[in-house]
Amino acid sequence: MVKDIATARNDFPLLATTMNQAPITYLDNAATTQKPQPVIDRLIKYYQTENVNVQRGVYALAQATTTKYEQVRQQVADFLNAQPTEIVFTRGTTTSLNWVAQSFAPTVIQPDDEILITIMEHHSNLVPWQIVAQKLGARLRYVELDDAGHLDLKQLQASLTSRTKIVALTHVSNVLGTINPIKQITTWAHRVGAYVVVDGAQAVGHLPVDVQDLDCDFYAFSGHKVYGPTGIGVLYGKAALLAQMPPVEYGGEMINLVTRQTTDFKPAPAKFEAGTMPIAQVIGLGAALDYLTSLGWSQIMTQEQHLLQLAGSQLQAIPGVTLYGPALTTAHSAVLSFNLAGVHPHDLATVLDSQGVAIRAGHHCAQPLMTALQVSATARASFAFYNNDQDVERLITAVKMAKEFFQA
Ligand SMILES: Cc1ncc(COP(=O)(O)O)c(C=O)c1O
Repeated sequence: MVKDIATARNDFPLLATTMNQAPITYLDNAATTQKPQPVIDRLIKYYQTENVNVQRGVYALAQATTTKYEQVRQQVADFLNAQPTEIVFTRGTTTSLNWVAQSFAPTVIQPDDEILITIMEHHSNLVPWQIVAQKLGARLRYVELDDAGHLDLKQLQASLTSRTKIVALTHVSNVLGTINPIKQITTWAHRVGAYVVVDGAQAVGHLPVDVQDLDCDFYAFSGHKVYGPTGIGVLYGKAALLAQMPPVEYGGEMINLVTRQTTDFKPAPAKFEAGTMPIAQVIGLGAALDYLTSLGWSQIMTQEQHLLQLAGSQLQAIPGVTLYGPALTTAHSAVLSFNLAGVHPHDLATVLDSQGVAIRAGHHCAQPLMTALQVSATARASFAFYNNDQDVERLITAVKMAKEFFQA
């Protein structure tokens, strides 16, 4: 049965708390999302009745918890339309992307080859490529924004050559809200023989992702941005590509046989999951995906688009406010970056904080993008399906209050 989104907010205990004596208006969902009671309950149940190590014990409880852990792998695979053998559990998006850069890139990159990324990347999908490019003698190239604030697709196409070995880009920008046409880009990249690595951190909780349809080679996301626990992430990789990647960490439970001098590793995904994994977090991620599924994409996307249009149009109407990113009417996730003329975003965020409104201010781990936008920082309000019209009203009132306060 589909759960009604109008009452879903009540499932999130943190949203009923206060901040600075005001009801909290949580608009920092791009940083992390709040957790619904079923996820919290699932974590408690795990620690109360299921807490053992997995993949090791022969006793009944160890077997039962291992089965539940592996069921979540199947669930994640179903969620992304992949096979469970293509799902590696990691610490988060950052770890997933670092592993692709450290382990996969050296298997396909020769000196003078090129890695193509975009100017809108989060540092997690930028710094690992800088480091690997330096190490392998490859060239790191950037696709810029076009005049409308989208990725410049003409430049992207023109940049793809037989030298391009990897195209790494975000599905949804954490600063601009831009939704990139991954399927189209993958088709172009594959034509020149390049592999496509997608940073899905800002996409997975907000729109359906089908890795087979996108035909990307790798896809990364974090549990904590999809209403699940921190400390757990996912790396999807096509089976043949995971097979050609060496493990990044070495240790217990990822081996078939160890002798004094040699080790035979298990096949993927086990060869990447060395040591004790974040078991509770995996189980919690399963509960989070169940929760999302119970709401359905149609309700989630309709509500988030409603909030985007409402907040975006009202912000735009405030004199002195500049919105960054593509027009609200184009493919745009519910993330709004803006500045108020004459007011530093940190000062703006501080006034909003005094009113109980939690937004982010800063460079959003995207410093090259800030330089391209010719700003040092922006304020960012990012929405989730549990936000409502009252949250938007509080945001707008607080921004107007800041404008008056600073006489901006
Ligand atoms: C687009 C994008 N990529 C990667 C990350 C990194 O995610 P995590 O810190 O969960 O590894 C974030 C986090 O904000 C992000 O927004």
